[in-house]
Amino acid sequence: MFLKQLQLRNFRNYHDQLIDFTASKTIILGENAQGKSNLLEAIELLATLKSHRVSKDHDFVAQGCPEAKIFGKVDRLHGEVDLSLTLRSPGRRTASLNSENLKRQADFLGYLNAVEFSCLDLDLVRGAPERRRLWLDGMLVQVEPLYGHILQSYQQILKQRNALLKKGLDGNLPAEELDLWDQQLVNAGIKVIRRRSRILERLVPIAQSWHQQISQGHETLIITYCPSVAVGDGEVESIEQTFRERLAQRQLAEKSLGTTLIGPHRDDLALLIDGVLAKSYGSQGQQRTLVLALKLAELELIEQIVGDTPLLLLDDVLAELDLQRQNQLLSVIMDRFQTIVTTTHLGAFDAKWLNAAQILQVQNGIIKT
Ligand SMILES: Nc1ncnc2c1ncn2[C@@H]1O[C@H](COP(=O)(O)OP(=O)(O)OP(=O)(O)O)[C@@H](O)[C@H]1O
Ligand SMILES: [Mg+2]
Repeated sequence: MFLKQLQLRNFRNYHDQLIDFTASKTIILGENAQGKSNLLEAIELLATLKSHRVSKDHDFVAQGCPEAKIFGKVDRLHGEVDLSLTLRSPGRRTASLNSENLKRQADFLGYLNAVEFSCLDLDLVRGAPERRRLWLDGMLVQVEPLYGHILQSYQQILKQRNALLKKGLDGNLPAEELDLWDQQLVNAGIKVIRRRSRILERLVPIAQSWHQQISQGHETLIITYCPSVAVGDGEVESIEQTFRERLAQRQLAEKSLGTTLIGPHRDDLALLIDGVLAKSYGSQGQQRTLVLALKLAELELIEQIVGDTPLLLLDDVLAELDLQRQNQLLSVIMDRFQTIVTTTHLGAFDAKWLNAAQILQVQNGIIKT
């Protein structure tokens, strides 16, 4: 797929900016704090409805304005689509597809696919479990838009169950009401767990093969899903049984803490290099290689499942990779994936790139071609 055009209105530090993408590689060049990451963030929002900066909608809207708009025109194998997202401060978002407002935001997903890679992604290895869940969920949402809806309803149920547990902290927890929420938590949770487990089964071998290539066969990568509720044979019945047993085991603790302790909101991934946790023992270089392998695997898996090439958004990372990893990355991208790269200086780029790329200069939220 190809993002042909992007328009930003009152989004972060952009007031009214139209950008036409004319080459398969675009370099966004600018000093610090000029709007490079903001631009990639807008594309990420069109692709996933989320920003990995984990901001509130209020933060996206240019200071002093009531709303921000992001428009994108995407060329896909099956035709062209117009995507538009309005973010309000305060107020709810509106997502529209080909100028038609959508009732369900999940219906917006899947038209633009993108994989972002920034220095923040080292948190995938180093950060809290939430960071890895967000990554997994972001990937799932792109390959299976319905997942957005599934996850949202799980989170809603979790919130209500937590509210009930909290209310019951004074000792008056209505058992029947809790039973009802348990059933809902289990039903919705199973859907999340099975999808996370299935996508990992497909992702892991691809990531391992990339990791082998980048580390030149010196290291082995193991990725294990560490779900709060064991997946077993993957059948609904067996997950349900385990889920219920785990809830029963932790019931007293949940009642005394007033919060839900079991469920996919507690899942994690273990990333091991040569048998040891990359989080605790990996060197910086090993952690970078690992994240690069994960990102390349994500790119390839989305392409396999969606049947169209996702965009690759590289925020300031090229300069951070050593030449070997840079070249590895470049040889994968070639002209296959539309790639948008940000940088503060062109010095980090290979001449082959500079000749082929469209270079856009950004200054204080204004793009000069
Ligand atoms: N809601 C907002 N309204 C107005 N300006 C904003 C808003 N949110 C962020 N900004 C401004 O956007 C700028 C940062 O943009 P961005 O993160 O895209 O920089 P960058 O070019 O990627 O810089 P760096 O090279 O440091 O990563 C800051 O000057 C910040 O004040
Ligand atoms: Mg930046």
